[in-house]
Amino acid sequence: MAENAEHPAYPVGLRLTGRRVVVIGGGQVAQRRLPALIAAGADITLISPSATPSVEAMAEAGEITWTKRRYEDGDLADAWYVLVAATDPEANARASAEAERNRTWCVRSDDAEAATAWTPATGRSEGVTVAVLTGHDPRRSAAVRDAIVEGLRDGSLVAPHHRDRTPSVALVGGGPGDPDLITVRGRRLLAEADVVIADRLGPRDLLDELPPHVEVIDAAKIPYGRFMAQEAINNALIEHAKAGKSVVRLKGGDPFVFGRGMEEAQALAEAGIACTVVPGISSSISVPGAAGIPVTHRGVAHEFTVVSGHVAPDDPRSLVDWASLAKLTGTLVVLMGVDKIGAIAEALMAHGKAPDTPLALVQEGTTSSQRRVDATLATVAERVAAEDVRPPAVIVIGPVVAEGPHKSTP
Ligand SMILES: C[S@@+](CC[C@H](N)C(=O)[O-])C[C@H]1O[C@@H](n2cnc3c(N)ncnc32)[C@H](O)[C@@H]1O
Repeated sequence: MAENAEHPAYPVGLRLTGRRVVVIGGGQVAQRRLPALIAAGADITLISPSATPSVEAMAEAGEITWTKRRYEDGDLADAWYVLVAATDPEANARASAEAERNRTWCVRSDDAEAATAWTPATGRSEGVTVAVLTGHDPRRSAAVRDAIVEGLRDGSLVAPHHRDRTPSVALVGGGPGDPDLITVRGRRLLAEADVVIADRLGPRDLLDELPPHVEVIDAAKIPYGRFMAQEAINNALIEHAKAGKSVVRLKGGDPFVFGRGMEEAQALAEAGIACTVVPGISSSISVPGAAGIPVTHRGVAHEFTVVSGHVAPDDPRSLVDWASLAKLTGTLVVLMGVDKIGAIAEALMAHGKAPDTPLALVQEGTTSSQRRVDATLATVAERVAAEDVRPPAVIVIGPVVAEGPHKSTP
């Protein structure tokens, strides 16, 4: 019976695990529908003299049982669900009639009016199955499905979990600064959060988009009293999660690239709180890229090394082997190095790196304030002072700096 205003189709979720499903015809329709039936755990028999290479592969992999012949009466015995999609109209009609006699729900690819069931446009995002039926307009169904799935993925459609909410924290890498450069998963978790603990660095603009009920906490402003600042952040994460809140720890770039993400993950593990880590686009690659510098380039650099310039090379706390780095021919990317770049350049040159090695500082990369200052190892200290380069900046050292359309003369 056709769907109309009076009698719309009745939507239902079939639980097909271990249940017999018969598919008639091994062409494009079967190829499109079979993966979802396989994923549902159905016990699938395909009846068809031929099949597309993809369908054949499913049979070879044991995901379906393929009976290589045309449909015969009785093939639908004991089936819970039937998909009729052969190129032979007569076989389709006979199979459809058998399904009707057996009272087995039957989808028909050739004649929607004659079918007893319709396949909705489906999609999945994070445990939610979306199924859309619009009657006679499969494109509209697909468009509505896409809009919902996309909304769930990017968080513009918020569907918070209300069942079995156990305390948990998501450590989300927010990317280098441009709010468009967070991952889809990160954006969704932000949209679902009750509490967001954010760093100064990272996509601050994303915080403006959050609904008013979301509590945004500036990590730098958490009072730490007798604790270390990091300990105070860890404690705040634990307390809010234990209070039953959805907590997002929003970090700049990737949580595990000089982001202290693992310290937070360990503290949460010790407190018995589940922690999801969402990787982010690290400034170490994306900021040079945004300024037209590829960290590798064929025939120019076969490696890149990311180093912290937080402490000077002669500082006893430094774990960086600058002498070895000076010998590398590839790209050196220095984070947190603006203040110490003079001493870093001296150390590299003292260990043999050429004074005219090109270098670029990219300040506030991917944001509207992005700027690039070019120099060489020999001139960088003077250039940084003259141009008043300030953190945050990524420093790129090596021949790749002279590549690309944005290259400039130091
Ligand atoms: C504590 S580290 C965190 C790095 C971050 N986890 C990542 O993966 O990008 C901070 C340093 O990252 C670099 N940085 C981060 N975002 C930046 C941006 N938008 N522009 C330039 N440098 C940036 C700077 O070197 C800054 O001092």
